[in-house]
Amino acid sequence: MAMARLKSSGSGYSAELDEAERASRDEIMALQTKRLAWSLQHAYDNVAHYQKAFDSAGVHPSDFKQLSDLAKFPFTVKTDLRDNYPFNMFAVPREKLVRVHASSGTTGKPIVVGYTQDDIDIWSEVMARSIRAAGGRSGMIIHNAYGYGLFTGGLGVHYGAEKLGCTVVPVSGGMTERQVQLINDFKPDIITVTPSYMLAILDEFKRQGLDPRKSSLKFGIFGAEPWTNAMRAEIEQAFDMDATDIYGLSEVIGPGVAQECVETKDGLHIWEDHFYPEVIDPETGAVLPDGERGELVFTSLTKQAFPIIRYRTRDLTRLLPGTARPGMRRMEKVTGRSDDMIILRGVNVFPTQIEEALLATDWCGGHFVIELTREGRMDEMTVLAEARPESWDGSGLLAHAEKVALFIKNTIGITARIKAVAPDTLERSLGKAKRVYDKRPKG
Ligand code: DLL
Repeated sequence: MAMARLKSSGSGYSAELDEAERASRDEIMALQTKRLAWSLQHAYDNVAHYQKAFDSAGVHPSDFKQLSDLAKFPFTVKTDLRDNYPFNMFAVPREKLVRVHASSGTTGKPIVVGYTQDDIDIWSEVMARSIRAAGGRSGMIIHNAYGYGLFTGGLGVHYGAEKLGCTVVPVSGGMTERQVQLINDFKPDIITVTPSYMLAILDEFKRQGLDPRKSSLKFGIFGAEPWTNAMRAEIEQAFDMDATDIYGLSEVIGPGVAQECVETKDGLHIWEDHFYPEVIDPETGAVLPDGERGELVFTSLTKQAFPIIRYRTRDLTRLLPGTARPGMRRMEKVTGRSDDMIILRGVNVFPTQIEEALLATDWCGGHFVIELTREGRMDEMTVLAEARPESWDGSGLLAHAEKVALFIKNTIGITARIKAVAPDTLERSLGKAKRVYDKRPKG
């Protein structure tokens, strides 16, 4: 895979880094110890939920003396946040909030998060840092196609880009034809968007007879959903650009919790001066050593309005030592959420594994959905994989589809039906893609 493409890399780069990005591991850990003590106390003193949870676990913020003591404190899970809807997890009076966002929960009540002005400033700082790590510089134009609104993607990127000194085009998601027109006319250097919607933009370039490799785009900052290195190669190749991964979640702050550095593209550096990561065994809750895969857990170190203590993200990954930012650890690309895991006749499968298998072909460009059905007592998986326009001649794909099915059987160990469908037939998402349609009878 083409790694460092770097159409333009700034010289004197390290001078531009934030102090924390230049800090040693020891300095970061000392800072975390100090900030964690503050954050635990702040949550305990100001949020009834945390006071109750700490008390019933028999721990007090004063029990925290060193980083490993964090393991004594209880986890926070999504239902805790839902049960405190809308404003009961806030640690400051409502009047101190300058903004709220809410998660995109598909069922039930959303999760509401809030920010003081200081929180917004910190968020802008970590987002500016993320854009810089992705290759962005002051003076560049950034086409921001993450959705604006309650979702944190649009506004989170927006404030960070302004802080870095970029010119923001706040286009939000949707109206794909216009997205391409604006890219053509405004000539942005950077695009920020979900990887699945980037594919829809790519289709539109082709539909309009434009060569995406000739576009002005140099850097893409893609996240908000799992995507593979195979998808990275696809996008980089199509646009002749550098594509990096950005991670975040509303409960922790929004986008900008972790970002891949364009010079290494080797997983995402976690901005550990503001967010403390742990990886736990999802079954037992035990903290795992760095390098072992499990569920990612975050504790905020500096947030005022919405401190979050040991939040179970359900995202699966592992922690690795820092490279481009030696003081801060990396997280491996998130391969999936424990909620997205499909168990098909006893075998665990993530949609990203299917994405990888499809992108290994030359006829599928990455648009796909997975349907789960039950026939008799057997669960069946059907993958609807969209053919590239240039590969679709209405025939011939049957044999290709069979090859993919065989590949999936050999690599993942499951039997799936692969159905090649005509170009432009699967619904395009404007933000996060919905990959799995579970049509199995409930219960
Ligand atoms: O998706 C924040 C965001 C916006 C991140 C824009 C990056 C870019 P939520 O809507 O709260 O927040 O969803 C958070 O999305 O727990 C992951 O499951 C998933 N996710 C986010 N980034 C990535 C990524 C935003 N880079 C949930 N890779 C998280 C894989 C991701 N999954």
